This record gives sequence, C-alpha cells and structure tokens, in this order.
Amino acid sequence: MNKVSVSSPSNIALIKYWGMSDAQRTLPNNASLSMTLNQCVSYCTLARQTSGTSDEILWKTASGSLIPAQASMRRGIEQHLQQLRQHFDDWQPLRIATVNSFPTGAGIASSASGFSALALAFALRCGQSFNSPDLSQLARLSGSGSAARSVIGGFVQWPGHPGQLHCPAEQFAPAQHWPLHDLIAVVDAGHKNISSREGHRLAASSPFYAARLTQLPERLNTLREAILNRDFDTLADTVEREAVEMHMIAMTSKPAIFYWQPVTLEILARVRQLRRDGLQVCSTVDAGPNVHVLCTLQDVSAVYTALRKLPGVEQWIFDQAGDGPRQLARHLF
Ligand code: PMV
Repeated sequence: MNKVSVSSPSNIALIKYWGMSDAQRTLPNNASLSMTLNQCVSYCTLARQTSGTSDEILWKTASGSLIPAQASMRRGIEQHLQQLRQHFDDWQPLRIATVNSFPTGAGIASSASGFSALALAFALRCGQSFNSPDLSQLARLSGSGSAARSVIGGFVQWPGHPGQLHCPAEQFAPAQHWPLHDLIAVVDAGHKNISSREGHRLAASSPFYAARLTQLPERLNTLREAILNRDFDTLADTVEREAVEMHMIAMTSKPAIFYWQPVTLEILARVRQLRRDGLQVCSTVDAGPNVHVLCTLQDVSAVYTALRKLPGVEQWIFDQAGDGPRQLARHLF
C-alpha cells in the first residue's frame, strides 16, 4: 500500500489523566475516561518517500499549500516515527503531511488526535486493521497518553482495566448511546505556556495528589454508571468536580501551574447558573484555558444563545460525541 490517509479525533477527558507512573512508557497513575469528539480531528497522509532517503514532514496551510512542519511538531513526529519503526521493523523513509481542523496546542488535545492519526496511518501501511488492540498502545508512544483514547469512538476508558495501567483503552459505550454535544469556548488559541507533560511530572508535588488518587476509582465508577444510565445530573456534578480538582492539583504543584484565565472562570460560573435555570449543561477544562461546555441535544441551542455573546471567547467550536478514526480515500498530497 503506497499512500494511506486517516482522520483521527481529539477527545475530552471527563475523568482526567494527570500524573504518570512511568514517563518512559507513558503509563498513567490513574484510569481516565473520555468522550471522543467528532469535528476536532487531525488528518494525516503518509506515503513512501520517492525522492531522497530522509523523511519529509509537511503541514497543510489554510490556503491548501504544503509547507515544512514547524520544528517542534517535526521533533514530536520524528520521535513517534522512531518508535513506530522499531515496533513494525519498517524503516522506509516517508513523506508525511498533516493538518488539524482546530487550533493546535491550545488544550483541545491536538496531540491526542495528531499522534493517534500518525500511529493509525503507519499501522495501516504495515497491514494492521483499525480494530487491532495494539493501536491504543502505539498511539501513546510519543508521550501523549490521551492519544491512547483517541483511537476509539464513543465513551472510552484508559486503561480498560483500571488496576492494570499497561492495558489499552476500551470503549464502554458508543457515541450513539448518548450523543452529547460539546461547545468548545476557545478563550486562547495560542500554544499553552506549560505543557501537559510538565504538568504530569509536577502532579505528585501537590500535597493533595495522594488524596486525589484514592478517590478516583469510586469517581470513575460513578461517572461510568451515569453515562450508561444517561443520568445528566450525576454526570454534571462528577465532571465539574473532577475538572476543578485536576486544576487544583496543577495550581498547588511546585512550581504552581495556572491554566485558567478570568474568562475561563466566567464561563464556568455561567454554566452553573444555566444548570440552576434548568438546562442540561456542565463544563470541563483540560490543560489550557478553553472550556468544553457539555450539553444534551435538546438544550444545545439554548446554551449557545445564552453564552455566545460572552466577551473574551475568541471562537466557538461545535462538536459532539463521535465514532472515532476513519480511513480516507482523499489524500493531503
Ligand atoms: O495526553 P497528554 O499528555 O497531553 O495529557 C492530557 C492531560 C489532560 O488533557 C489534562 C487530561 C486527559 O486525560 O486528557
């Protein structure tokens, strides 16, 4: 197979992975739970390099031209490629092009979608199928643990067996089970100052981290049950507590990490008020200032109408639970 193209989605963590037990192998300290998105995706086309012996790594611009990828992106892709090559024992030089449908490096998990897309395209080229259980492990080789969840659609737990941290991610409900909407308030589309990798490294320096780890198994079960029963009140309560707690760990790490901006807090407060007013809506925030506003289909337009005029939001992205990666017949080059 010469040219392979895939799209792979971002995901939003509902129970956050924060802190690693093994940074070399990107193993988490706790099981996490996420919803795979539909619109926020990375595209990746990969083909054998025909001119020369080194890899060519390209980024597709908004105008449609292919330019060399930025140095930091190139480094990440090269590191991941190295691991994929070792795994598959396939050393052919490659031409790779990639692009995201959403802001890159702004806390909307572009590393999860980007690295999962690369791993999937590489694995398909090497003859693996989309259903291979290896894909979840291959996706996180670059160090982005959340990529392990992006290879699967719907509601996903990583690791699938919470006590066994090396296990792959597993779906526990498809997107159709509860097609929740996610209105993403992009507060700042720039690159975040402190990487999530650094956040994972510092997590254990928070005096509250050990207490967090003891409470997480019960919280994860509560949320899983809430999703399986489509119980929005329990979902909202659990997801908001969880987001605040992850950021509290970040803010009390040494040195402290502050991802939130004033408008982040403003949106969180507005969402709580909307829920008190009777709408099925709640919010969560990954490692950045942007807010994911989760709501049911019946309330999505009322929620957007109430929030769209908020000053300080650069862009609203409309997303919802999605089915996961796809192989594409259309290529980037
Ligand atoms: O996958 P990483 O290394 O980018 O870390 C993800 C960290 C959070 O987004 C904050 C939580 C998560 O589980 O996705």
